[in-house]
Amino acid sequence: MLNSEHQKLVDKANNAIFIDSKKVARDPYRLGYHLMAPANWMNDPNGLIQFKGEYHIFYQHNPFSPEWGPMHWGHAISKDLVHWEHMPIALAPSEEYDIGGCFSGCAVDDNGTLTLIYTGHVDGRDPKEVQCIATSIDGIHFTKYDKNPVINEVPVDGSQDFRDPKVWKYNNIWYMVVGSGKDGKGKVLLYRSQDLRKWDYIGPVAESDGNKGYMWECPNLFPLNDKHVLIISPIGMNGAKNIYITGEMDYKTGKFVEEYYEEIDYGDDFYAAQTFLDDKGRWILIGWMGMWNTKIPTKDNGWAGAMTIPRVITLLPGGKLSFQPVPELQKLRQDHYRFENLVITPTSYKVLGDLQGDRLEIIAEFKMDLYKDNEFGIKLRCSSDYSEETLVFYNTNSKELCVDRNKSGIGDVGVSRRRIDLSSKENLKIHIFLDCSSLEVFGNDGCVVMSNRIYPKPSSLGIDLFARNGSVNLISLDVWKLESIWGDE
Ligand code: FRU
Repeated sequence: MLNSEHQKLVDKANNAIFIDSKKVARDPYRLGYHLMAPANWMNDPNGLIQFKGEYHIFYQHNPFSPEWGPMHWGHAISKDLVHWEHMPIALAPSEEYDIGGCFSGCAVDDNGTLTLIYTGHVDGRDPKEVQCIATSIDGIHFTKYDKNPVINEVPVDGSQDFRDPKVWKYNNIWYMVVGSGKDGKGKVLLYRSQDLRKWDYIGPVAESDGNKGYMWECPNLFPLNDKHVLIISPIGMNGAKNIYITGEMDYKTGKFVEEYYEEIDYGDDFYAAQTFLDDKGRWILIGWMGMWNTKIPTKDNGWAGAMTIPRVITLLPGGKLSFQPVPELQKLRQDHYRFENLVITPTSYKVLGDLQGDRLEIIAEFKMDLYKDNEFGIKLRCSSDYSEETLVFYNTNSKELCVDRNKSGIGDVGVSRRRIDLSSKENLKIHIFLDCSSLEVFGNDGCVVMSNRIYPKPSSLGIDLFARNGSVNLISLDVWKLESIWGDE
């Protein structure tokens, strides 16, 4: 039985979205193959799951405005992780325990019932945040549990910031991690349950060593090969936005022991990543392609925020992870252009002729063994006089892969950078997904990833190659124009 008050609020939100989506459809910054809300505000991915064969993404959503506001759960379904179909809003804040917002959470398949576990947020209440569940048989319409909240008090190790439950099953027992922080240290709190309704607190499964921030949002904990991976979105960690920690998980003691950590994505528009396991045995990660306190010019056009493309997580020696675009995205490829063995010099100009576009996949491979004091790479979204351009390049002195947005248009400026150490025999590989106002860059098979939003003029469509100081050899460059998934172009 659907809760009738909740259903009324869901209907109201669906109507608002229907009306506002007409304006967004005409926006030149709209993304062609990324999931964004039909209109208005989106932040964290929630409830990622493959359920009865179909992929589901839920997301933090304000259906009434392009600003963050009363959090609902938006919803979309895909058969292939590429083409998404918008569904009705799944959750609206409707009850005394979640009236301030249905905050982030996850989804599990409870014996054929799609079950969402989320945070009910109410400012000024003590506790401010509680954990709740909602269920669905058809995977589209959700009923909130009549005995919500299922976790109604903050345990001794937590604080009023107590949110973003992520649940998984291990040896037939449900486990939940919840993000929190106390005494200046971010913490992940661990619970156990037989039935998703009654939860026993175990203790902090991990906490900051003093250098990883004071509050940990959006935790994920999952096994990968012979290790476990903990993902957190730390607040107050010296500029780091979203990190993974690889280590060992001991279910008997309820403790995770850290061995290696790094940022997931070195771009400026990436946060709150969530993971799930699919029926091909892949752990897949999707992040919010956005970040708090950034300039989002599309708000003027009625929308804000998008999901990243889905990325497959692989464990590398030493505990490092790589993140690579799911191969299903190759379905989007249309016209293909290939260039081989080009020499790029400081005077090179229009190396690719008139090739241009704003919805592209690019794979470039550069030879690496010769260069000193050089910077070389690819220019995207260039205006005809190059006063506007976005640069993806490698600096041979600092050995950093960089994305330079200083001339990218009306959004935030700056350079994202991360070191890639290459031996003299290795080539540099850059894999790029450009989608109008988004740019995702994967360096050397996903060892370094950077997601950024850019807002150039619609007419700035040029692509070029450059080397600042001495010539470089491009081994090959593949460019594909990509189709839109929205069937409207
Ligand atoms: C992360 C976050 C979560 C919270 C949600 C609210 O971006 O702050 O901790 O549940 O956003 O929209």
